Amino acid sequence: MTNKLKYFVGNWKMFGDFGSFKIINKINQYISRNKKSKNIKIVLCVPNTLIHFFREKLKTRNILFGAQNCQHYHGYGPFTGSISTLMLKKVGANFVILGHSENRSEGETNKLIKKKIKSALSQKLNIIFCVGETLKQKRANKTFSVIRSQLKGSLENKMNLKKIIFAYEPVWSIGTNKIPKAKELQKIIRFIKKDFRQIFKINKLPLVLYGGSVNSKNISLLASIDEIDGFLIGSASQSSKKFIDIIKNYYK
Ligand code: PGA
Repeated sequence: MTNKLKYFVGNWKMFGDFGSFKIINKINQYISRNKKSKNIKIVLCVPNTLIHFFREKLKTRNILFGAQNCQHYHGYGPFTGSISTLMLKKVGANFVILGHSENRSEGETNKLIKKKIKSALSQKLNIIFCVGETLKQKRANKTFSVIRSQLKGSLENKMNLKKIIFAYEPVWSIGTNKIPKAKELQKIIRFIKKDFRQIFKINKLPLVLYGGSVNSKNISLLASIDEIDGFLIGSASQSSKKFIDIIKNYYK
């Protein structure tokens, strides 16, 4: 099995309260004892209401915390109900997920995501940038062109692109228990890496995670695709057992 650094990122979505620290605690105990832990990076993107509490309560830095979205304006301002990247930074977030399809479907455009990326970079947050096609776009053979326009529409050369990790999340795979076929997935992950390098004239290939219905069963198949640098895990990250089983089975 690989010795490359792999990311296991949880996207808790709208889930959790202070009592959910027990989930964090169990994951922390598991990772502290794991011999592979130096090759594993765990990031939990929890609701903003919990970032500071979890970070303070967790005595180690085995787990990093992130947010799931942000306001595009970086400081303080007249945006009722919004949370800026400055505020996320101050509560201890290291990461922010941007471009998630659940936000795109609420009207978030590539242009708005670009502003959010700029804002996150201004606070030196790491970004998990989600890209991926809908079922309709897949059926119309538009997967590659959709991803390319998401890359081109939200990123630019003068950004600190090293802070960006991609998450390929086909929209039809989120919460559906369906994942792409291995060959197809490998091809798309390679495409994202190479296309990004080519468009932005970067030497190093970026990291690309896979997200969409990742669970302890399909992880063995996903583990066979070496190009995948980790996983963005939604509902299965809301349970310590399911999340830990994914990591265990990945390294089996
Ligand atoms: P899922 O969600 O693992 O529940 O499919 C993934 C995501 O939305 O990031």
